[in-house]
Amino acid sequence: MPYLTAVCQEILRIYSIVIAGFLQVVIPLRLWVINCQRKQSFIIPSIYPAHYREEVYPEPKKFKPERFLERQLTPYEYLPFAGGNRRCIGLAFAQYEMKIILATTFANFQLSFLNKRPVNAVRRDLTLAAPAGIKMIATEQTKLRQQSNSKHPETLI
Ligand code: HEM
Repeated sequence: MPYLTAVCQEILRIYSIVIAGFLQVVIPLRLWVINCQRKQSFIIPSIYPAHYREEVYPEPKKFKPERFLERQLTPYEYLPFAGGNRRCIGLAFAQYEMKIILATTFANFQLSFLNKRPVNAVRRDLTLAAPAGIKMIATEQTKLRQQSNSKHPETLI
């Protein structure tokens, strides 16, 4: 379970679904170096670039779930659901859903891409999504086990 959690965290780091948050400032405010003197200023915290900071995530383009097992990240370093009191209300539900879908799928199927082309996420407004039309082959784990047992009968239990 801890590794499955780390896999989901790393997926949401590399493919930050919401690439930026959105804050509307309605009173004059000085926030660190940001000076919002006008009413109705907007601050857009950038989630995606925060998740690719080399000093926080060495080799940021590599998929390495272990980084989440090795150290605890602060809410300023890892924020797929934004932060503060307006952070995503679906946070717990979304993570629970991801884990159930991944665990159920990989316990029963082995997935492989039909085309070997790299899959690049595409932008849809403020969100990142998988490109349309990705074709995959799902092979049932029971079939794979039967195939490997018939190739190596001595491994039959
Ligand atoms: C992996 C999936 C999800 C991600 C990455 C995500 C991310 C986010 C982020 C970053 C925000 C803040 C946007 C901002 O600052 O302007 C947000 C807000 C919100 N999300 Fe999600 N979300 C996810 C799933 C869900 C689900 C499943 C629900 C509902 C069941 C949901 C409901 C909401 C709502 C209602 C808000 C607005 C909260 C407010 O303004 O107080 N989200 N989400």
